[in-house]
Amino acid sequence: MIEIAVLPGDGIGPEVTDEAVRVLDWFAARRGLPLRMTRLLFGTAAWQAEGTTMPDATWAAIEAADALLFGATDSLAQQHIPAEERRKGALLRMRKALDVFANLRPIRAWPALAEASPFKPRTIAGADLVFVRELTAGVYFGTPRGIETQPDGSRRGVNTHSYTEAEIARVARFAFALARQRRNRVTSVDKANVMEAGRLWRDVVSEVHAAEFADVALEHMLADNCALQLGRAPARFDVIVTDNLFGDLLSDCAGAINGSLGMLPSAALSAPGPDGRRRALYEPIHGSAPDIAGKGVANPLGAILSAALLLRWTAGAPAEADRLEAAVEAALAAGARTADIALPGEAVLGTRAMTDAVIAALEAS
Ligand code: NAI
Ligand code: MG
Repeated sequence: MIEIAVLPGDGIGPEVTDEAVRVLDWFAARRGLPLRMTRLLFGTAAWQAEGTTMPDATWAAIEAADALLFGATDSLAQQHIPAEERRKGALLRMRKALDVFANLRPIRAWPALAEASPFKPRTIAGADLVFVRELTAGVYFGTPRGIETQPDGSRRGVNTHSYTEAEIARVARFAFALARQRRNRVTSVDKANVMEAGRLWRDVVSEVHAAEFADVALEHMLADNCALQLGRAPARFDVIVTDNLFGDLLSDCAGAINGSLGMLPSAALSAPGPDGRRRALYEPIHGSAPDIAGKGVANPLGAILSAALLLRWTAGAPAEADRLEAAVEAALAAGARTADIALPGEAVLGTRAMTDAVIAALEAS
């Protein structure tokens, strides 16, 4: 049995994870996949019920699970919770504890949504790329960090952008291996021109490439140029490997291809353990969307496509993952739209009805 810990979280998190679970239930019931989903109390809901954002039972279930399916946390709404408690349930802590260093963010231009994109349809036609963002090191974790008071009484904010050779090499290996399963092309993105860790990044990626993956096409690109190229010619990219900070920013830039954050899935994966299995955390890339929470209008496709990544990477069922992605494409082609991806005048479905359209396409597949 594949045990999946479901952490709905805040805002639209529970609304969209419910739909992803419904789709996974379909694969268990109709395709015989041995998936068991267990909802866990965590974050704001756990704080209200039990006075802690991370109950011991939840943490134990996370550690025992084969994969996590995560909704979203609302860090702003958690401001009233004491900082120490907030940190316990924090996503950054979970990523670090599970050592899920490789963050996959696939982005494709769905043909049915071309008109809803802020880009010209012919600019994005054929775009199908995946970010491999380093997730457990870099400037979000480096020390020293903090806000310090200087001798003259003024304050100074400090973060440290740090990468070790090993941290770079493992994410580079992941990206090259993934490229071999796709179009065999890696773009490594850094700021080697102005940052020391960026210089090391470029050297180590080149070394791993030469030693182990010389059959894969590799190009290096500066991060600022990458932002431009993603808007100008996104179809030129296959696998983009980059650090934690640039991966955060650039994948949001590329997310504009679809016109909505609500379409984008992600997976965070560890190295394979002694049993050959990777720890994995799946989540839509969007946040808790407080502006639309509780209304039943959120787009569930980011969460549902995250479930497709789960089928591919944890359940070992790539054909079923393809089936689910094709069902999303079929639902969109048939005109299913939530408000965030609809053009003016187009009929709009709620969260549940959008999932119904995907499940109907699955039934027909
Ligand atoms: P957000 O992603 O929650 O929302 C940005 C905009 O996109 C909003 O207008 C929202 O309505 C829309 N949107 C997002 N997901 C959507 C969906 N599935 N369907 C339709 N529309 C959607 O980002 P924002 O507003 O910057 O942050 C809100 C809260 O979420 C903050 O507390 C932030 O810390 C948290 N957050 C959590 C993340 C996580 O749990 N991984 C990631 C990003 C933000
Ligand atoms: Mg982000």
